[in-house]
Formats: sequence, C-alpha cells, structure tokens
Amino acid sequence: MSFLPSPDQQALVDATRSFVQAEVGPLVADDDRDERFRKELIPRFGEMGLTGVPIPEKWGGLGLGYSEYALVIEEIARVSPAYAIAVAVSGLPQVILARYGSDGQKRRLLPELASGRHLGAFALSEPGSGSDAASLRTTAVRYGDRYVLNGGKMWITHGPYADVIIVMARTGGNGARGISAFVVEGGAKGLSFGRAEDKMGLRSSPTHAMTLEDVEVAADDLVGREGQGFTIAMAALDSGRITIGATAVGLSRAAADAAAAYARTREQFGKAIIDFQGVGFMIADMAIATESAALLVRKAAWLKDQGLPFTQEAAMAKCAATDAAMRVTTDAVQVLGGYGYTREYPVERMMRDAKVMQIVEGTNQIQRLVISRHIARG
Ligand code: CAA
Repeated sequence: MSFLPSPDQQALVDATRSFVQAEVGPLVADDDRDERFRKELIPRFGEMGLTGVPIPEKWGGLGLGYSEYALVIEEIARVSPAYAIAVAVSGLPQVILARYGSDGQKRRLLPELASGRHLGAFALSEPGSGSDAASLRTTAVRYGDRYVLNGGKMWITHGPYADVIIVMARTGGNGARGISAFVVEGGAKGLSFGRAEDKMGLRSSPTHAMTLEDVEVAADDLVGREGQGFTIAMAALDSGRITIGATAVGLSRAAADAAAAYARTREQFGKAIIDFQGVGFMIADMAIATESAALLVRKAAWLKDQGLPFTQEAAMAKCAATDAAMRVTTDAVQVLGGYGYTREYPVERMMRDAKVMQIVEGTNQIQRLVISRHIARG
C-alpha cells in the first residue's frame, strides 16, 4: 500500500494541473459572476484524456482506475469545482454504459462521451422525489419496438447542453423494482428544459428542470433489463460519490492554501497572523480535515479498483470530504476577515461552492443512512 501517487499518477496530476490552471483558471471568477458554462471546454478536457479516465481504452477512455480518476477530479476542483462536476457528471452515463450497456450502446455512445466530444448527463431526481429516489413517477411505456417517456426531472446538471442523458423511468409497479434506465439523446423530440436555477454556488455549472413529453426512444435504448434501473442508478451514484468527495477535497485544498498564503503575509500587531495561535490552529485544522478526507476518498477509490465492495466507504468519503470542505472554506473566509467576504478573493466563491457538495448525489443525511444501514446489517 502506498500513500503517494505513483510516477504515472503524478504525471497525470501534473498535466491536469497545468492544463486547468492555464485554460480554466483565468475564467473562473468572471464565469461564476456571469453564471457562464463553456461547453466548448469539454472537448479540450477530452484531448487531455480527462473526460474518460476510468473507461476502457477499447471504448475511447484512458483505461485507468478510480484512484487516477479521483486524483484528476481533485486537481480540476482545486481550480474549478464547476468543471470538476461537469467532467464527473458526464462520467456517470459512461460508467453506467461501460458496466450495463449493450455492445451496440457502447460502440455508439462511449467513444464520443469518453473523448469529450459529447457531454453526458444523469436524470434521476424529480420535483417530488429527491432522497426517496425509488418513488420517482416519470413513466416509460412500451409500444412495439419503442418506449414513450413522460414526466418531469429536476436538478439536471448541464441538462440542455447534454448530448446523452441516462433517464430513470418507471416501466413497472411502485418501488425500486419498477424502474428502468434509458438512453435519451439531447435534442430528442418532446424533451425540454426550464431556465437555469439561480443558485448560491457552483454558478458555472448550469442546473435545469427537464420535461419529457411523449419522448420516444427505441427499445434498444433500454439500458440493462427492465426493472434494473434503480440498481443501475445506485451503483452509478456509489461511484459518483467518490468523485464528489474528490471535488470537495480539491476545494478544501484550494481554500486551505489561500488561507495559509494570506495568513503568512498579513501582519497585525507586528507579526504575521499565522503566528497567532488562534489563526495558526485554524490553518492546522484545515490541513487535518483536508488530509483525512483525501485518505477516505483514496480508500474508496482503491476498493472500487480492487473490485471490492465500496458502497459504505464511498458514502463515508463523500460525507466526510464535503463536510470538511464546508468547514475549511468557511474558516478560510474567517482567516481573510473582511477581505474574505468580498469577491476580490476567491474564498467566498469556494464557500458557496462547498455548500452544494453536502447536497448533491445524495445529501449527507442520506450518506449517513447508507452507512448506518451497512453497520446495522453487521
Ligand atoms: N448498489 C446496487 N444496488 C443497490 C444499492 C447500491 N449501492 N443500494 C440499493 N440497491 C438496491 C437494493 O439491493 C434493492 O434491490 P432489491 O429490490 O433487488 O433488493 C433496491 O436497490 C432498493 O434498495 P433500498 O431498499 O435500499 O432502497 P431505498 O428506497 O430504501 O433507498 C437510498 C435507498 C440509499 C435512500 C436511495 O434512495 C438513495 O441513494 N437516495 C438518494 C438519491 C440520490 O443520491 N440522488 C441524487 C441524484 S444526483 C442528480 O440527480 C444530480 C446530477 O446531475 C448528477
């Protein structure tokens, strides 16, 4: 077991850092203010191999594991959590198709998604079904060789920009076993989106409601079997929670670095404020929280890469890393004082971005439910 990245992993981290700092870094503050998402950046991420890290090379990915994927997402998030989320969410359909898709679906969809030429999205939540995902009401009715989908979805990350959306819809009775997963292509007739939500943070990552009105898909667009959709969604979210954890770790690192840099140079009462124990200990606590979270994320990714169960560890990593990011970013604003509360410094954006991490891909209350259910089973 090694706690350090291998030389190859370090090279991937370094390449990601240089790319994101140069290409995305200069845009972050203005795009956050203007709520601007640049889809045209996604193929650029793709050229670096960053949009399909865990997808087999045969299907256009890098063929690496979640250990590498988590490192990449963490590095993107140090600069831009919004693009870390864009890459991670576009990864969800890929992970689903790579595991449950037919050969035809893989051949048709994966190379474009893994290369970043296409953007993927994931549609599970609905206005009346968030944490209780199994109560979703969107329907898919089969007519011969087609399914017709009707319903409303919520919180669809970059929905109107997506070329491929995995939509969970009900083909059977109530509950988890009545749900199936479908490929719906962006621009499908009957598919429409509401206005971008006016969010507190992650403002360069657009979030939309989605309506499906008699959207027709081919029977071949069913992913896996009828009734398997909930398991597919849960398995995807297990993996997704590793990448949300990694995003939160990147955010914490950025906030902790900004706070430390400020505290080393800002002088009050004749010395650097980091030399006052009240501030120095806050900086130490940020380092402890960030490092502990990174280790949990790495462990969950490693378990997945070994083919071992990782549901509980992914929930722990997501929960711990996002709670840590909220604390670390809030303390970073505190260390910078009045300056930290202004848009002149990036820490106020980081604090706003951190909040949603405690909510997306399963609230931290749901993560605790997943963890406690595992423990209860013994
Ligand atoms: N992997 C595989 N299968 C799983 C699973 C997992 N991690 N967790 C549950 N299942 C299976 C169970 O084995 C069970 O299958 P059987 O019926 O065959 O026994 C079935 O799913 C139902 O399981 P539960 O009884 O545990 O289901 P539940 O209704 O109690 O719900 C829950 C469990 C953990 C609360 C789940 O509903 C959940 O995770 N909720 C949060 C949803 C969430 O994270 N939403 C965010 C979506 S992200 C988004 O929409 C934004 C975006 O852009 C990405």
